[in-house]
Amino acid sequence: MSNTENRTEFGSTLGFILSAAGSAVGLGNIWKFPGKAYACGGGAFLIVYLIMVAVIGTTVMMAEFTIGRKTHKGAVGALRELNSKFAWIGGLGVLTGFIILCYYCQVGGWAMYYIVAYITDVQTVWADPMAYFLNMLGANGFPLGAIVWAFVFLILTAFIISHGTAGIEKMSTILMPVLFVLLIGLMIRSCTLPGADEGLKYMLHVDFSTINGTAILTALGQAFFSLSLGMGVMITYASYLSREDNLVSNTAIVCTLDTLVALFAGFMIIPAVFATGIAPGMGGAFGFATLAGVFMAIPGGQFIGMIFYFLLFFAAITSSTSILEGCVAFLNEEKGIDRKKALVGLSVILFIIGVLYTLSQAFMNLKGIWISRNGIEFPIFGDFLEYLTDRLLLPLGAFFTTFFVGWIWGPDNSIQEATGEGRNKFALAPAYKFIVKFIDPIAIGAIIIAGMVFGMAIS
Ligand code: TRP
Repeated sequence: MSNTENRTEFGSTLGFILSAAGSAVGLGNIWKFPGKAYACGGGAFLIVYLIMVAVIGTTVMMAEFTIGRKTHKGAVGALRELNSKFAWIGGLGVLTGFIILCYYCQVGGWAMYYIVAYITDVQTVWADPMAYFLNMLGANGFPLGAIVWAFVFLILTAFIISHGTAGIEKMSTILMPVLFVLLIGLMIRSCTLPGADEGLKYMLHVDFSTINGTAILTALGQAFFSLSLGMGVMITYASYLSREDNLVSNTAIVCTLDTLVALFAGFMIIPAVFATGIAPGMGGAFGFATLAGVFMAIPGGQFIGMIFYFLLFFAAITSSTSILEGCVAFLNEEKGIDRKKALVGLSVILFIIGVLYTLSQAFMNLKGIWISRNGIEFPIFGDFLEYLTDRLLLPLGAFFTTFFVGWIWGPDNSIQEATGEGRNKFALAPAYKFIVKFIDPIAIGAIIIAGMVFGMAIS
């Protein structure tokens, strides 16, 4: 109990919104979304994605917000308080977050590496963007630079977390508005490049024949990842909220901001890719090697590129802190481990796994599980960690959360909390009730099963 009483609260509603949006807006929006929108057919994918966010994303977020604020506890404690048989749902979320963080910190580190590269060594990046990217990842020797930057990224994340919600709030209140403005500027620049209209057409052309099971699963996994749902982060954040805050409007604002940023990033990157005629590489390389070609081809590209990687870094750090906070809160509140010790212990383990992720990115096309390169032996994870979290663990977490709210805790209790015992309006409450009870568990369950049956391999 004493834990609950000592809990800090967010200083203001705006602080909470920017922190929750800071968690949501991350590598998922800028590094993952544009590549997926491109690969899954442009306009049609955007529509499927928007439907996923509007119907499933908002309701799962509302479910998580209400659980968190009702109990004022982190994910596991919150579920335990509502029904002790279901605490494990929170545990599953913590595990998922930990896995995400392993690669998240690495990619955050790559963004920092590229900031420096654009400032000091842009000609080498541009001479052969793909070679530069692979070289950073260790294609020609131990990737010391990438790993040092990933380490710096992790230390920064841990440092911010060690200051509790105040640290997160302060950082988000500064970085989120900056990110928004930068992104809009870059989007306008990109859409006005000669030849950009082909890309715009691609993003606006709706052809539903491109929508198959993989596209739907990708859209759902991407929506959860992007909105930070399915692992209890939003439960933990909302647990720091006071009774005065309006969960209905907060849900709407956070979902809208996150989706806008994803769309801005899509409309920044895809038109530029078309305008410069660069074949979009897929996967992790999209935001690095492919974009190098774009920055190279536009006036002021060095400066614009540097700004872009700053933006990617801001987006990443406001998210990585949210994930790490979820894991640390768990160890502290559930296992009684000192916050500092939990922070250090988690950081060490996730860093080691993360380094293996970075190492294996350079050798994705090699077959086999263990390989030996330049005297280093390591397992190839490839994109396995991402598939595991985006396509399985996050949807599973969201499935159990909505099942829990719909059938165990009860949607009426959740609505009661959402409206602050009737103080705020929630016009869509009946729709929410129906969706968390029926649509969410059925749709998410069906998509998970389809994903397992039809394979997880294609992105
Ligand atoms: N939403 C973040 C992004 O788009 C990543 C993230 C932060 C996340 N917290 C999370 C994903 C919790 C899932 C669950 O990059």
